[in-house]
Amino acid sequence: MHAAVIQASDAPPVYRDHPDPAPRHGDELVVEVLAAGLHHLTRAKANGSHYSSGGAYPLVPGVDGVVRDEEGNVRYVVLDDTALGTFAERTLIDPRRSVILPGGIDPVRIAAAMNPAMSSWVALRRRVDFHAGQRVLVLGATGNAGRMAVQIAKLFGAAQVIAAGRDTTRLRALTALGADETIAYDRIGQAADVDVVIDYVWGELAAGAMIPMLTARADRTAPLTWIQIGSIAGQTAPIPSAALRSARMRIVGSGIGSVPARDFLAELPELAAAVTAGAIDVRARAVPLAQVAQAWTTESDDRVVLVP
Ligand SMILES: NC(=O)c1ccc[n+]([C@@H]2O[C@H](COP(=O)([O-])OP(=O)(O)OC[C@H]3O[C@@H](n4cnc5c(N)ncnc54)[C@H](OP(=O)(O)O)[C@@H]3O)[C@@H](O)[C@H]2O)c1
Repeated sequence: MHAAVIQASDAPPVYRDHPDPAPRHGDELVVEVLAAGLHHLTRAKANGSHYSSGGAYPLVPGVDGVVRDEEGNVRYVVLDDTALGTFAERTLIDPRRSVILPGGIDPVRIAAAMNPAMSSWVALRRRVDFHAGQRVLVLGATGNAGRMAVQIAKLFGAAQVIAAGRDTTRLRALTALGADETIAYDRIGQAADVDVVIDYVWGELAAGAMIPMLTARADRTAPLTWIQIGSIAGQTAPIPSAALRSARMRIVGSGIGSVPARDFLAELPELAAAVTAGAIDVRARAVPLAQVAQAWTTESDDRVVLVP
């Protein structure tokens, strides 16, 4: 079969022949890959920079995707740590890490949506006691995950969703997706009275936003949960000590590990149904798997989805 193969942590994938997969035990299925998203996690796992990277090469990247099993079921699957990912014509899956999708779905749309959408869906369901009527601030709202966080917070009944980002044109577009307010980072003090922050940026940007926000809160003793999800602006954040004293803020993370795999898997069916039903707007761009080398190194606003 054909697959994208990475030989070393700093090498881009090469499209080439690769041995066909063979099940190693009875729980594994060989499946045909229909579509697989090129997410930040895909790159970070492949180059060894993600905390869950396996570090073994050669490696076929691809952490999730839409696949067809031998019985014709179309599934969305999240792979465990493996050297044989979804950037291949065929791969191996554990069906317990998958959900069967209804007929007629668009594999590209599902493959683009599930990873970025899962980040806020699982965070709000599994990392905080979120309830309808609460107010949410999304930092990094113009990215794929941020746009979905705006929509998912609304879907879960948020009374107010404030979308924060750098790009005012892109920010404005979020109003049509449900954002009640959009705000540039230098005005973050105006987004002070929220219950939950969904943070995709981290770094100095997030740390710098804390004091202006916290000191502007109408009631500093009102609980605020800052959910750390992405680190697009920096892996480390110099959090001022006063941020943790001056208001009733707690910081939690949400990702693989802080949320058990079983909890991610338990949320898959409902999220897949929401994406399938069109409840979440998705930006997707299909690219043939043969063009993986170019796609790997090219920036794209739309989520690139590789199609074997
Ligand atoms: N923990 C989880 O479960 C989970 C799941 C999915 C994603 N993530 C993480 O969440 C983050 C966002 O993912 P994504 O899929 O939304 O990525 P994306 O689609 O590439 O969007 C990232 C956005 O961040 C903004 N940005 C880039 N560099 C920035 C900087 N230096 N300072 C401020 N903003 C910057 C850009 O928006 P503008 O150019 O419009 O400002 C960009 O659109 C990534 O770190 C990803 O790894 C985590």
